[in-house]
Amino acid sequence: MSRIVITGASGQYGRSLTDRLIAMGRAADLILITRTPAKLEERMAQGCTVRYGDFDKPETLASAVQGAGRMLLISGTRVGARVVQHKAAIDAAAAAGVGHIAYTSFIGIDDPANPAEVRHDHIETERLIRASGMAWTMLRDAHYADAMILMAGPGVMASGQWVSNSGEGREAMVWREDCAACALAVLTGEGHEGQTYNITGPDLQTFGEVTAIMAEVTGVALAYVPVDDEAQYAMFDAMGVPRQPVDDQSVNGIPWNSDDMVTFGQAIREGFLAIRSDHVERLTGRPARSVRQMIEENAAMLRGAAG
Ligand SMILES: NC(=O)c1ccc[n+]([C@@H]2O[C@H](COP(=O)([O-])OP(=O)(O)OC[C@H]3O[C@@H](n4cnc5c(N)ncnc54)[C@H](OP(=O)(O)O)[C@@H]3O)[C@@H](O)[C@H]2O)c1
Repeated sequence: MSRIVITGASGQYGRSLTDRLIAMGRAADLILITRTPAKLEERMAQGCTVRYGDFDKPETLASAVQGAGRMLLISGTRVGARVVQHKAAIDAAAAAGVGHIAYTSFIGIDDPANPAEVRHDHIETERLIRASGMAWTMLRDAHYADAMILMAGPGVMASGQWVSNSGEGREAMVWREDCAACALAVLTGEGHEGQTYNITGPDLQTFGEVTAIMAEVTGVALAYVPVDDEAQYAMFDAMGVPRQPVDDQSVNGIPWNSDDMVTFGQAIREGFLAIRSDHVERLTGRPARSVRQMIEENAAMLRGAAG
């Protein structure tokens, strides 16, 4: 069995995937890349290889990927400026003889009219991967439900309002854990070369509908407040959220920049992210979990955040 190298291994997605691979008995086959190896000391104790690698220092990636047959490139966090970073990882993998690369991409990126800022990074990275000569699999993840329920949710509960520029647009948010389970299937299975999967949740919903579920499950009155793009920017500006990405920064638990979030809302509003598929079930053998289930499982936390 070939060794598997994972970038972003210290992040939430990377940890979920690594836990699953270790549970399968693959610890010795794993090469985990991080800018801070101390973050992954427990993985070394579990038998994984941990190597220093930085998307901004291509020479570190060249040695970090050595010996791997498969790779998961987990996209970086610098939204709007990741193509150069990802190119360094793709070039390193191709040069080191990695045979198959999988990539955490994003849904709805084929349409050039999609205004989401993340689109450019992902479509360009996919293009580089297809041209690399390696076999590839694109894991086009929908919006993580975790981002809206677990990270933004406490702020909604505290204020009693879900403010969004996504209007009545729909998307099928997906559990990050389900995304990691799909990556596991691709990295440890066969027959996924040349495939592009849409990794989505089971329900196309508006944020207004999600707000109603959150209110029903927690018993706390919540209002959905649709706003325009300018008002959405103003809200993030007032919170101190930067418009451009700042590495490793988080404001009130939100690690994203407002150009990303506002164009994301616009893309939902205009229907570019209204995509639902059964790929989670096809890849993992069980249905994708719902937003309602995430709210129910975290109801106590959400209720505790209520104002
Ligand atoms: N579909 C969605 O809704 C959605 C939402 C949020 C994020 N995402 C994407 O999914 C990815 C994984 O999500 P997550 O929740 O696991 O993110 P996360 O917890 O913030 O982890 C991000 C990872 O990126 C790594 N990283 C950042 N800059 C790097 C650099 N210069 N060189 C090497 N590694 C670098 C970090 O590694 P070290 O700090 O250890 O170096 C970290 O492990 C994100 O990075 C983002 O691209 C998608």
